[in-house]
Amino acid sequence: MESEKKVMLSGIQPSGALTLGSYLGAIRNWAGRAEKFDCYYFMADMHAITSRQVPADLRRNTLEQLAQYIACGLDPEKNVLFVQSHVPHHAQLGWVLNCYTMFGELSRMTQYKDKSAKNAENINGGLFTYPALMAADILLYQPDYVPVGEDQKQHVELTRNVAQRFNGIYGDVFKIPEPYIPEVGARIMSLADPLDKMSKSDKDQNGSIHLMDAPEEIMRKFKRAVTDSDTEHCVHYDRAEKPGVANLMQIYAACTGENYEAIERTFAGQGYGAFKAAVGEAVVALLDPIRTEAARLLADKAYLEEVYRKGAQRASYTAEKTLRKVYKKIGFLAT
Ligand code: TRP
Repeated sequence: MESEKKVMLSGIQPSGALTLGSYLGAIRNWAGRAEKFDCYYFMADMHAITSRQVPADLRRNTLEQLAQYIACGLDPEKNVLFVQSHVPHHAQLGWVLNCYTMFGELSRMTQYKDKSAKNAENINGGLFTYPALMAADILLYQPDYVPVGEDQKQHVELTRNVAQRFNGIYGDVFKIPEPYIPEVGARIMSLADPLDKMSKSDKDQNGSIHLMDAPEEIMRKFKRAVTDSDTEHCVHYDRAEKPGVANLMQIYAACTGENYEAIERTFAGQGYGAFKAAVGEAVVALLDPIRTEAARLLADKAYLEEVYRKGAQRASYTAEKTLRKVYKKIGFLAT
């Protein structure tokens, strides 16, 4: 793909089913960008194995994620959609960049500290060096922007540092990318614990809405959503004092386009029960077409295979150019 357009790239780990949080905070904003940008989106399966995966689940989640990307509006003709492990350049450049990423830098990554604290029995080398692989994921495609959630910003900043360090030694090899953080829906919290991010790999799945959840399931989870002990049941936006209600309001606003004042007016005096049901209905209305379309696509494996094979080919074309340049610069003998 060679054009004047700016380039965007992002990935999500297929370590569980995609959530409402990933949709509102990320994928929803990706669709429609293809007119203005050359876009690459991938399933980060190589990142997913930094924590132990059940092989059949990883395979299924990877394919489902692709079907869901398409169902969310990412047209495979206009976006390059691929599976990370299908493009070997990621592992190849990942190794090289490991040698240009400092132990101290990696030690400062908050995600590493969090994940190793949560997962004390499997603090493997991959978990530690993961940001070097992520830097490779990004730099291979010379993107201008990397749309990510707030929690990934630090990794994009590390990527910039590594790229600058490399360019400082060898000349202009990598474009220095900018992180691109969405304002709306950047941080959708768990329905079970509104102080914790909604996550696809959470143990308590009552807190997470998945794109493939049936409407009854979604309604059930919203009915159980944690609010607060305010006896007035006042639907009012206050992140610090009423994090549960604020999170529900954020979700409702993201689904309907209404602002917080309008929501407060609509639900004044109605209590939390009615509000939670209304949020559930708004989410069902948003997700149902996506679920139906993803299910239809998943029934057509041949089509999905064609999409990811073509995607890997297109991605490899760009990745190959960057990797060749890097190998040459660092002094690897040409094949
Ligand atoms: N680290 C990201 C996450 O956990 C996923 C990811 C891997 C990614 N490689 C990337 C995101 C490159 C953006 C660009 O969500």
